Amino acid sequence: MKKLDTQTVSVAKRGSLLVVTIDNPPVNALSHSVRAGLLEAVNALESDADARAMVIICKGRTFIAGADIHEFKRPMQAPLLGEVIERLDAATKPIVAAIHGTALGGGLEVALACSYRIALDQARVGFPEVKLGILPGSGGSVRLPRLIGVAPALTMISEGGQISARDACDKGLIDAVVSEDLEAAAISFTEKLVAEGAKVCRVSALPVPGFDPAVFDTSRAMLSKKYKGFRAPLVAVDLMKMVTETPFAEAIASEYKVCKDLLVSPQSRALRHIFAAEREALNVAGVGADLRPRDVRRVAIVGPGTMGRGIACCFQNAGIPVILIGRSDDSLASAVKAIRKIHEANVKRGGITADEMERRMALLTTATSYEAVADVDLVIEAVTEELNVKKDIFARLDAVLRKDAIIATNTSFLDIEELAASSADPSRVAGMHFFNPAHVMKLLENVRALKTAPDVLATTTALGKRLGKVPVMAGRSEGFIANRMLSKRTREAQFLLEDGATPQQVDRVLTAFGFPIGPFALADLAGMDIMAAARAARVARMSPREQRCNIVDRLVAAGRLGQKSSAGYYAYDESRKPSHAPEVDMLLEAYRSEYGLAARAITDEEILERCLYAMVNEAAKILEEGGAARPGDIDVIWTNGFGFPTYLGGPMFYADAVGLPRVKEALDKYSELVGEPFFKPAPLIERLVAEGRGFYG
Ligand code: 3HC
Repeated sequence: MKKLDTQTVSVAKRGSLLVVTIDNPPVNALSHSVRAGLLEAVNALESDADARAMVIICKGRTFIAGADIHEFKRPMQAPLLGEVIERLDAATKPIVAAIHGTALGGGLEVALACSYRIALDQARVGFPEVKLGILPGSGGSVRLPRLIGVAPALTMISEGGQISARDACDKGLIDAVVSEDLEAAAISFTEKLVAEGAKVCRVSALPVPGFDPAVFDTSRAMLSKKYKGFRAPLVAVDLMKMVTETPFAEAIASEYKVCKDLLVSPQSRALRHIFAAEREALNVAGVGADLRPRDVRRVAIVGPGTMGRGIACCFQNAGIPVILIGRSDDSLASAVKAIRKIHEANVKRGGITADEMERRMALLTTATSYEAVADVDLVIEAVTEELNVKKDIFARLDAVLRKDAIIATNTSFLDIEELAASSADPSRVAGMHFFNPAHVMKLLENVRALKTAPDVLATTTALGKRLGKVPVMAGRSEGFIANRMLSKRTREAQFLLEDGATPQQVDRVLTAFGFPIGPFALADLAGMDIMAAARAARVARMSPREQRCNIVDRLVAAGRLGQKSSAGYYAYDESRKPSHAPEVDMLLEAYRSEYGLAARAITDEEILERCLYAMVNEAAKILEEGGAARPGDIDVIWTNGFGFPTYLGGPMFYADAVGLPRVKEALDKYSELVGEPFFKPAPLIERLVAEGRGFYG
């Protein structure tokens, strides 16, 4: 096999075929060397009179997963992908793309520039560019509709989803699907083509098939709702419309320009930041890349309540047997019923088949005795947030668990060190903080205690990925990263009510900013009794102003428990549609007059700044204390756990975009207005501003 100069691409002669192999770990991205190698390979094909056709295949876990994202930060080096693709398209002999793993973005563009595509049945293809705030820039948007039709192409490009090889075959995107030995299958597929005298087959030569022009308006309406705030999905509609109205070569040039413009947009920068931060979050301090996580083949969950049920679903969905431990057969029976309901809803939505649901349910067993956990590899306790209850459970687990089994707690607020100390072996204790509903929410806030063993940290991180979550490691701190920051936003939202804002105004400002739900609508969803209990647990440690601000308790006393009682900060009708509740205005007025507080007009800007900068300031303290390893971890937590708009990159990235000097100025202003204890700029912010830097340098 001849290695080309680029080292990542090699060419071997197999009879009358050239087999080009790309080997650019981890995902065969189209780095400069791959682009150069592919160009050389096409030149070799054209100049070798004996070569009749070429196969492009990849080593490792996947076909080309797209352009090399790391190269986006600097000017691209020639040859550009567009040039490579043009050469593939212009080749005078057939080229076959052999796809395994995922052919994504530029990878799929390479495949579309080939004459034919053959794939393993497990393979998937897609254009995920939109998730990075860009769109296909090397012919993908121009070729795909020619091959599969305008409407399906628009769906793939504007939403960024992946489709299976079989689906792609049905759509005409892939020519053949095989179940094993891709290389042999691709070679025999290509040899047959040659034997039959098959010619090159250029997608670029195909016309755009007929389509319903209404597709653009309906897509625009659907996308602006489903991807509120995101720019690229809507640009995709305009792009596709242009492609249907413009000759191929011109459309290619326009597509490139659209992608290039999007690449330098603030949204793309923010989305690419989150992509990188989610992967960086997997690097946990003190956990070497070569440290093997412990095997997790069987788990137990203590506590069959809402959290325990959701967590059990996560393990079932990942194919891991799970034992649910509860105090009574009755509580376990209703938990199993509720878990089945979750899976049934998935079947109804078409997410899984009924058979698959049964397979998942078969992974679940229940027990009332701790003896049942004797042979599990990991236990997650998900019982009520009471330190003594949890400590007691830890002691009972210690008595029955294998020595190498891990004890994880789902606590969201309690002291991880105290919990770890209650086990005879604190090195086996860690936090795995899931978010409600656990089977839906992507975020997993793992927590390390001082003595947690490195391989336990490696295990909770690897397990998070295996469960399809986005794991982030937090350190000791009350409320860790997520809830500690949230509690500051909650505090400010309450103070804003004291100062004269309404729940509607605060919610409107935060949803207009991009959060899917405002803090008061969220409180109504969670339940005011839950909010009041969380407050009660912390009230002794609160400042006098926070202790006084007992609006939540007053709502509970008035029977306004939120959606569950059809009344909270809002009034709810039978279909849970919220409306303004005059009773809450009266309750707030009574509260203010009791303490002699004057309501004032509050601007939207003040609401946004107080809610966001209170969190950013707290995050700076967490960073400085070592509760978070890097600002990116905080951004990942807020985008995955609380709906902070990903196109703004998370609170730390957003603060840098606003400019830390401006953030500090606002903190100083609110220190005077609200009180220094709440808004005094964190020392880290003071220092970064003095040094002319941001969280990201
Ligand atoms: N460029 C460079 N590195 C990439 C990459 C890419 N396109 N995609 C993934 N990687 C890297 C990751 O950063 C990670 O590196 P690390 O180990 O150093 O952290 C490593 O590959 C593995 O990635 P994952 O942890 O995500 O691995 P998974 O197995 O979970 O997922 C994947 C693999 C499905 C390929 C996933 O990585 C993915 O979705 N990648 C992004 C694909 C994409 O967006 N492609 C389009 C790029 S834009 C483009 O092509 C423009 C074109 O139209 C011109």
